[in-house]
Amino acid sequence: MQWLVYLSEARVGPKSADAAQIYLTARKRNRELGLTGYLHRENGCFLHYVEGPAEGLETLLVSLRRDWRHQNMQIFGRGPLKSRRFPDWDMAFTETPDASFAMWLGVSAGDGPCAQALAEASSETVLAFFDSLRDAG
Ligand SMILES: Cc1cc2nc3c(=O)[nH]c(=O)nc-3n(C[C@H](O)[C@H](O)[C@H](O)COP(=O)(O)O)c2cc1C
Repeated sequence: MQWLVYLSEARVGPKSADAAQIYLTARKRNRELGLTGYLHRENGCFLHYVEGPAEGLETLLVSLRRDWRHQNMQIFGRGPLKSRRFPDWDMAFTETPDASFAMWLGVSAGDGPCAQALAEASSETVLAFFDSLRDAG
């Protein structure tokens, strides 16, 4: 099993029908691919953590790379995993202001999508943020 985290710029509005379709597709397909994970939306970016079998992640990456609903995908990190962070969630979801990576980092959100401080965070920091989301319930 592996985990993967990436950051990308959203091209669909937060409450749009196009965004809703992402969650519907993901719930169904993640179950089929054996993936679980968490999609966080903040300040015009998606911060997405996914975990599961390497083949499932590869399949999803191919789809994500050609998905017009986001752009400039930047992989933060990928690594081996002993046990899942989100065993019960095929697609959990948060967005600001309910949860904020910038606030959690203690930096200002900055201008434009995908503020620099978020993009420059280490993968350990990003994983710790997802742990905090999980622990918050
Ligand atoms: C930010 C973002 C996150 C996504 N997350 C997932 C996901 O976790 N699982 C998934 O199956 N599809 C996800 N999708 C949708 C995929 O890109 C893709 O449209 C879907 O898996 C169908 O694949 P296909 O177009 O290759 O048939 C996401 C799309 C975006 C823009």
